[in-house]
Amino acid sequence: MKSATLENDQITHLPDLWLDGAVPTDTDLRAAKRIAAKLREFEGLKPFPVAVQRLVEYVSTPEFKLDRVREMIEADPALAVRIMRVANSAAYRAYEACTSVSRAVIRIGAMGVVELAMGMAAMGLFEDLVGVGKKVRDHSAGTAAVARELAFRLDQSSLSSKVFLSGLLHDIGKLLMLQTGNRDYVELVTKDQSPNSHHLRERELLGFDHGQLGAHVLRMWNLPQPIPQIIAAHHQPKVDQGNSAFISRAVDILRVADGIEWLLGQGASGDSPAGRRLANSPDGVRAGLSEGKLVALWDDLLLVRHEAISIFRQ
Ligand SMILES: [Fe+2]
Ligand SMILES: [Fe+2]
Repeated sequence: MKSATLENDQITHLPDLWLDGAVPTDTDLRAAKRIAAKLREFEGLKPFPVAVQRLVEYVSTPEFKLDRVREMIEADPALAVRIMRVANSAAYRAYEACTSVSRAVIRIGAMGVVELAMGMAAMGLFEDLVGVGKKVRDHSAGTAAVARELAFRLDQSSLSSKVFLSGLLHDIGKLLMLQTGNRDYVELVTKDQSPNSHHLRERELLGFDHGQLGAHVLRMWNLPQPIPQIIAAHHQPKVDQGNSAFISRAVDILRVADGIEWLLGQGASGDSPAGRRLANSPDGVRAGLSEGKLVALWDDLLLVRHEAISIFRQ
């Protein structure tokens, strides 16, 4: 069973973790080295819950059984309660109440439930956050719900569970860095929480961005691809550079959701100049968004965001 402790073979393979067949650039390799040095600072972090690691390993075996998945989740009542809350939320399109873990497993599927458990477990490590960390956690929950709703509404429902989990975990690198108490970093995130600028400052300050860091740590925790790859790319999309079509589409939706969540949090409207810019951005256009669609979706996105944030605050 792997813990959050860095092992030598993981350092050696770090450059491969976020690249999907693309040739690593010098910047990628430099970032990987800097992250390897930094990961040691996270050894004091609470380890990823063993129960969820077991679940991930179990569903990776070809002979896994739904009943056993249900039993493993029910063995952790707090986790089971959170999964039920999400399964019954608007983001999960709950048409009828989902009253048991076995109903959740049937509705969402065993892998969907395990992915939810992984997301919940990872976010659970940051439950006691205050200040700017709490804002990042809320933003992550909101981005997950917005991304999932976008996937459904833009006819990309095959991406829905992956973009939900990626949204939940996309800024986990920020939460990890905030936990180190690095003053310059805390100041950086506190001053600028907009989604698309401060990764550049991170690269100057640290030699990597929070997407790359998060991806490496998630791989250390054995979260299966493509989630770490999607997260690594959310501030450096590599369209036409080796990312598979699935990953590229998921990254587009995640990036748009990231921006929309930010605007919703600012009280902006869908037809604000910033909303229109998002709808017309390369990510927005590739995701199938348009100005009209964004305005039409805005109230529903606001609703799923609000609900997801309240679920993850409990
Ligand atoms: Fe980010
Ligand atoms: Fe974000």
